[in-house]
Amino acid sequence: MEELKTQIAKNPVPNHIAVIMDGNGRWAKLKGRPRVFGHKNGVTSVKQVIEGCAEVGVNYLTLYAFSTENWNRPKFEVKTLMALLVSSLKKELKTLQKNNIKLTTIGNIQNLPKKAQIELSDVVKKTENNNTLTLTLALSYGSREEIVNVIKNISKKVVNNQLNVEEINEKIINNHLYTFSLPDVDFMIRTSGEKRISNFLLWQLAYAELYFTDTLWPDFKKKNLFNAILDYQTRERRFGKTSEQIENINE
Ligand code: FPP
Repeated sequence: MEELKTQIAKNPVPNHIAVIMDGNGRWAKLKGRPRVFGHKNGVTSVKQVIEGCAEVGVNYLTLYAFSTENWNRPKFEVKTLMALLVSSLKKELKTLQKNNIKLTTIGNIQNLPKKAQIELSDVVKKTENNNTLTLTLALSYGSREEIVNVIKNISKKVVNNQLNVEEINEKIINNHLYTFSLPDVDFMIRTSGEKRISNFLLWQLAYAELYFTDTLWPDFKKKNLFNAILDYQTRERRFGKTSEQIENINE
């Protein structure tokens, strides 16, 4: 592990990593256990990935913990996921404080059970001045819905003469997204072999490097994160420019 870390330290690490944590259900099924057993074990991976990001100096980590579509899952599964969220927040507050980690959320938090809302706002408030890693949980989050809200809010400003249509630009749109305080995503990881974005951060992923691994989320540990970052470091991010232009910038 230390060897992996030394290797990572040779190049810049992604500033903002976003993760679609997928495969909990299949992991449990492979073990002949109920789906929620997979979610319970997925929490250990969440902890490992947060810890790994903090260790190598990633500044922003955004986790897709619950999508707008996830409300359609069986009632018991939704209930268990919410209970896991509450118990993890309770248990981990101390660790977040000790490691100077700030918790934020994106998504329709008002749709979560009251208990989860209260716990979340408590941890968000208590960690708001922390300044190493910003950990963002996407909860009841859907990117298209986020964009629809942006359009509604910008339109209202135009109608109320607070904004001219000509003034609308990428920066204004950014400032109306849930993620207004976060930088663009540099690196997106999805586990479990699915190669989709699934309505996650559609605007924010515009220039992100994408990483898909067959590993199921409960098996995705610190070592897997470090290997993913090493893969990221081999990529050449061109943002539409040519390789030669990029080389000249780096000279
Ligand atoms: C996807 O696996 C995972 C989720 C929908 C939820 C992720 C939640 C956790 C890891 C636990 C709680 C999180 C926090 C932040 C404490 P899946 O159920 O879609 O798996 P499948 O595709 O194999 O069915």
